[in-house]
Amino acid sequence: MTTYDIGLIVGSISSTSINRRLARALTKLAPQADLRLNEIPIRNLPFYSADHDSAMPADAANFKRAIEAADAVILVSPEYNRSVPGVLKNALDTASRPWGDNSFDAKPSAVIGMSIGAIGTAVAQQQLRTILAFLASPTLTQPEAFLQSREGLITEDGVVTDDSTTDFLITWLKSLHEHVAHAIRTSA
Ligand SMILES: Cc1cc2nc3c(=O)[nH]c(=O)nc-3n(C[C@H](O)[C@H](O)[C@H](O)COP(=O)(O)O)c2cc1C
Repeated sequence: MTTYDIGLIVGSISSTSINRRLARALTKLAPQADLRLNEIPIRNLPFYSADHDSAMPADAANFKRAIEAADAVILVSPEYNRSVPGVLKNALDTASRPWGDNSFDAKPSAVIGMSIGAIGTAVAQQQLRTILAFLASPTLTQPEAFLQSREGLITEDGVVTDDSTTDFLITWLKSLHEHVAHAIRTSA
């Protein structure tokens, strides 16, 4: 099976982020699905402004090039007030500009997230899908991945302590691999 390079964008900059734990878990489990996951950091991105369009700040330009270099991108995000966290929205806006230089154009993507709420980031993910559709990024549709956190489910270094969650994440990564292969095949 072809091994793909996948960029990982975490929609939380909290030092205790459960979504960063989830991102680490995916990174550990990815080789089983023939994927190499590497984080594309968003912490140092400036707030997007149209003033940047003529000359992107270095952090923003590097962020865009990292997305373009990846075979696909996973967004691992919490939900804030039933929506997309501001840091992640800013990152997506940065990636989308300047007009005509949208780094997500035809880039396969997937969304996944974990929250303390019972519907596990479902609303934020739906809004992310709307943004990714506008950016012309083919996004993995199934399986959806709405994860509710509980104490000890994923350790700090990304070990999943529950077999059914581990199995689900491996299945999800395998579906992502098929999605990326299909998207690359049909765009060639
Ligand atoms: C500003 C804010 C808004 C939140 N809104 C939601 C929400 O809409 N839905 C939800 O399930 N959890 C919500 N939460 C709780 C998050 O699920 C919880 O803080 C989670 O740990 C955030 O993910 P992170 O640890 O990766 O940053 C919110 C938390 C904050 C700080």
